[in-house]
Amino acid sequence: MTADTLRYQVSPSDHARSAEQREAILAGELGFGKFFTDHMVAIQWDKAQGWHDAKVCAYGPLSLDPSASVLHYGQEIFEGIKAYRHADGSIWTFRPEANGERLQRSAARLALPQLPVAEFVESLRQLVAIDHAWVPSTPESSLYFRPFMIATEAFLGVRAAQAAGYYVIASPAGAYFAKGVAPVSIWLSEDYARAAKGGTGAAKCGGNYAASLLPQQEAYAQGCSQVLFLDPVEGKYLEELGGMNVFLVFKDGRLVTPALSGSILEGITRSSILQLARDRGMQVEERPITIDEWKQGVASGEITEVFACGTAAVVTPIGELKGKGFVVGDITAPAGEITMSIRKELTDIQYGRLPDRHGWLVKLR
Ligand code: PLP
Ligand code: COI
Repeated sequence: MTADTLRYQVSPSDHARSAEQREAILAGELGFGKFFTDHMVAIQWDKAQGWHDAKVCAYGPLSLDPSASVLHYGQEIFEGIKAYRHADGSIWTFRPEANGERLQRSAARLALPQLPVAEFVESLRQLVAIDHAWVPSTPESSLYFRPFMIATEAFLGVRAAQAAGYYVIASPAGAYFAKGVAPVSIWLSEDYARAAKGGTGAAKCGGNYAASLLPQQEAYAQGCSQVLFLDPVEGKYLEELGGMNVFLVFKDGRLVTPALSGSILEGITRSSILQLARDRGMQVEERPITIDEWKQGVASGEITEVFACGTAAVVTPIGELKGKGFVVGDITAPAGEITMSIRKELTDIQYGRLPDRHGWLVKLR
C-alpha cells in the first residue's frame, strides 16, 4: 500500500479509563506531559514496503529489539502540536502542514524516511477521532500531540536504519511552566552549546534535547526554568532556549528575534508571531543579536520586554536573565504589555475567539 492510501486498523483499548476517571484527570491540575490518552497511532516503515501497517491501538509500551538503532545511535525525531477545543465543542489544530513539513526536514537530516504531510495530518485526525473526549475545555488548556519517529532496525552497524516506526501519543495539557504565564528566569549557558555548526540544531531530534539537559539542570540549580544557548562558533549571538525561541521588544516598538542560523529550530509559533506583528504594522527584525545587546539594552531601557515562545510554552514572558556573576532584568516586574497582547491574539486565533485570517486552523472534529 502506498503512503497516500494508508488505511488504519482501529483497535479500541480494552482498558480505557472510564468517563469519570477521565473527567477527574481533566478537572485537575494538568501541567505538561503528565497524563496520556487511551490510544496511540503507530505506522511502520521499511525500505521494501514503505509506510504500512497503520494502526490506532491502546496506548502502551513499545516492543523493540535491543539492537534497534534508536537505542544506540539516537536516530529519532519528533514534533509538538496541539488540538484546541472551541466554544462550540469542535476541535481544531494549528498549522499542521508546517509541523508535517518540519518533520520531513528533520527526517531528511536524521536519515529517516519522510512521512507525507497529508499522512501526518491524518495521523492527528485518527487519534482525535477515538480520543476526542480527552481534549480539555478549561481555559488555555489543550491536547498536546507528540508525534515521533524512531529507527527500529535490529542492526548494530552505523548507517541509516532500513526500518522505522512513526507514533503519535497525546497528552491533555495546561501551562508548561509551573507558575503559568508569570515571568520566568532564564539561565545563560556559557559552558555548553546546544548545537554545532553543521550539526542537527535545525532538526527536532531527541539528541538536541539530550545535549540540553545538563545545562538545564544547571539552570534549575540557579532557580531558573530554562537555558539560553548562544551560537556554537563565537559564543556571542543568541540562539534559542532549550525548548523555545526568543524575542526582544524594543522601546521604539521593534520586535527582534535571532535569524535562523542553521542551528536554531524554526518554530511555528515564532513564524506566526512574526506574521501577527507585521500585520500590526510593527517593525520586525530577524538578525544576529549579541548577548551584550540584550544586557545593555535592558540596562539602558532600550529593550522593554523579552519573551519565549513555542507550542508548549505558547508565549511566556522572560523576567530576568541570569548568568555567572550577573542578573539582567527584574523578575518582580509584571509581564510586558506587548508580550501579553501577542499571546492573547495568538491564543484567541487558536481557540476560535478571533477570525482565522491566515487560514492557520484545521478542523479535526
Ligand atoms: N526551539 C526549540 C528547541 C523547541 O523545542 C521548540 C518547541 O517545539 C521551539 C523552538 C518552538 O517551536 P514551535 O513553535 O514550532 O513549537
Ligand atoms: C514543544 O513546544 O512542542 C516542544 O517540543 C518543546 C518542549 C519544551 C516540550
